[in-house]
Amino acid sequence: MSSDFKCRLTSLTIKLVLMFTIFRFILISFILLGVCSFSSNTNSICCLIQANDTIAKTNAKSADVLKKGKALFEKNCIMCHGALGHGDGPAGLFLNPRPFDISSDKVQSQTDSTLFFKITIGKAPMPPFKTLSFESRQLLVIYVRSLAKNKTK
Ligand code: HEC
Repeated sequence: MSSDFKCRLTSLTIKLVLMFTIFRFILISFILLGVCSFSSNTNSICCLIQANDTIAKTNAKSADVLKKGKALFEKNCIMCHGALGHGDGPAGLFLNPRPFDISSDKVQSQTDSTLFFKITIGKAPMPPFKTLSFESRQLLVIYVRSLAKNKTK
């Protein structure tokens, strides 16, 4: 074998390896992109992180937002948590464990996305609220915040 031929062979191998690496990179990106868009439904982790940001940006004190949140709370939560969220709703009296006082620091100290997550997946005996829209669950988090005993935050 002439050294010229060897040299060409090596450069060809390098090119092939490089092309293969680039191809693999593109392939992986496509797969990741696919997985991400597939999992970007309202209950994925990506979405929950996004929820946190959006909640923080929403004007939580807007009367309209609170009104909507209150309506959702009255429809879905009040029977267990009570009007002020103290855990004294009629349906909650017979549950074990009893519903939390969601106006307490114990609940209020949790982040928006944690509360959003717990409302989404539920916490036995509290049922999950996956069927409520993404926006509804955000409104609920905002409303839960407005029930805080300690409104220092
Ligand atoms: C069937 C009764 C019931 C309903 C309806 C209900 N909850 Fe609960 N909730 C509970 C109980 C019981 C707990 C305590 C669960 C535990 O400790 O395992 C709880 C806990 C919570 C907590 C605190 C979770 C924690 O770990 O800090 C939040 C926040 C909450 N509920 C919000 C809501 C909201 C908002 C709704 C309405 C969309 C709702 N709940 C509807 C029974 C209920």
